[in-house]
Amino acid sequence: MFISVSKVCLFFALIAQVHSAAKRRKKTYVELHSCDNSGIADEIASYDTVVKDIVDYVTKGPFKGKTYNELAKFVDNFGARLSGTAILEQSIDYMIQLTRDEDLNDIVTEELEVPHWTRGEEKITMLEPRVKDIALLGLGRSVSTPPEGITANVIVFNDFEELENAEEDEVKGKIVLFDPEFTTYGETVVYRTQSASKSAAKGAVASLVRSITPFSINSPHTGSQNYEDGVNKIPTAAISLEDADLIRRLVDRDINVKLNITMHSTFDTKTSRNTIIDLKGTRFPDKLVIVSGHIDSWDVGQGAMDDGGGLFVSWAAPVILKRLNLRPKRTVRSIFWTAEELGLVGAYDYEKQHRNESDNINFIMESDEGTFAPRGLAVAGSQKARCIIGEILKLFESINASTLVEDDSPGSDIAVIIRNGIPGASLHNANEKYFWFHHTEGDTMNVENPEELDLCAAFWTAVAYIIADISEDIPR
Ligand SMILES: *[C@@H]1O[C@H](CO)[C@@H](O)[C@H](O)[C@H]1NC(C)=O
Ligand SMILES: *[C@@H]1O[C@H](CO)[C@@H](O)[C@H](O)[C@H]1NC(C)=O
Ligand SMILES: *[C@@H]1O[C@H](CO)[C@@H](O)[C@H](O)[C@H]1NC(C)=O
Ligand SMILES: [Zn+2]
Repeated sequence: MFISVSKVCLFFALIAQVHSAAKRRKKTYVELHSCDNSGIADEIASYDTVVKDIVDYVTKGPFKGKTYNELAKFVDNFGARLSGTAILEQSIDYMIQLTRDEDLNDIVTEELEVPHWTRGEEKITMLEPRVKDIALLGLGRSVSTPPEGITANVIVFNDFEELENAEEDEVKGKIVLFDPEFTTYGETVVYRTQSASKSAAKGAVASLVRSITPFSINSPHTGSQNYEDGVNKIPTAAISLEDADLIRRLVDRDINVKLNITMHSTFDTKTSRNTIIDLKGTRFPDKLVIVSGHIDSWDVGQGAMDDGGGLFVSWAAPVILKRLNLRPKRTVRSIFWTAEELGLVGAYDYEKQHRNESDNINFIMESDEGTFAPRGLAVAGSQKARCIIGEILKLFESINASTLVEDDSPGSDIAVIIRNGIPGASLHNANEKYFWFHHTEGDTMNVENPEELDLCAAFWTAVAYIIADISEDIPR
């Protein structure tokens, strides 16, 4: 896949476009008045006892607390699981064994080449107007500074337009700080993914970005960024909201801010694996209902929330069905994506390898936006598809998870597959605090809640089961 350095860059630039487009869309809550589900509503309603059985088994029965406990063992054992590391591969082996222990043996892994970026020593010292350490996290694939660091004055911009309008002389030789107001993640994250190349094109020597979060306890948030082809690669990092505000206030008072930035990193590629677990369908084994989450994480924090929770509810779905001896007509496939954080690399590979089977994907689901209390699904697909999913969601009123959000590009990894016209959904959950913890040292088991994880696992399992078992395919 990585034929040359410039191909690699192009590859990541393409990913960045899809990824940010996927995150930028507006969500609207739909009322599905105009649905005519008369042909299938009764059949769907008849699954109410199965839903109750699954919810009871997971929230009150033998599976109660299991998702949380298994996630905690996993997270405590492996910690962070950065793309390209041996720990990530060990964690994949562990998940395979954990699945085999449940007597699910239809497991394959698919190898692919993944980026391996390693963070070395990182330090920013404000030298003027006073000496102060600035908390930072380098962004994914950032290059190193020279050993003696980069020492330069700071210029602050709110947005790309301000940078575009600035004279080249004003920016040349400076450290650019982007200080955008957080609106939504989708709208704001472009300052993380694009600021290095945009600043370098104007002659900046390094770029910093206000962390992409609405809340902070002096915690910087890392994340991916993409160097454009043909533009000088400059070191790039996120700083905390507090330090961004401090620098902004100083600059607004016409006080010169001088920083010394030292960053070290390495970059190469390694082999990793997507993991595919099938609970084979009884009648249409080739037809797939996919549940998924990513197993890799950033190197900071523990990857408990992003995406340990999503990984474990997707692991739980075939496990719970197997334990309850519920075998749907279509195959329920659980996928653990690798290397999501460095650019949806596992999902791109799966899409390419399985393109000839894409007609067989009946519905694809992903949980990668938190596993707080489930609220429903964010659904992509035709109106007919959304009507059927909306009918299924009515079965989850007892756990308050009946909301259907219309979203043409839900999820991150699955967006790569959904853009081919395949219907799918992301777990819609009470994730208002998700971006407080996202990509920080604060992504630990303390963010996860056993009862909420149980509800997510039960919901995820029951939805996948019904879609895999009803008489109609989800229409395109
Ligand atoms: C910048 O920091 C580096 C690493 O701490 C140090 O070696 C260098 O002397 C510093 N430069 C200045 C101008 O303070
Ligand atoms: C799709 O292609 C793969 C090889 O790339 C092959 O193993 C698989 O059987 C093919 N599936 C279909 C449905 O043709
Ligand atoms: C149910 O979900 C809605 C949002 O869909 C939320 O506003 C409400 O507080 C939830 N109710 C309970 C009891 O959790
Ligand atoms: Zn994630």
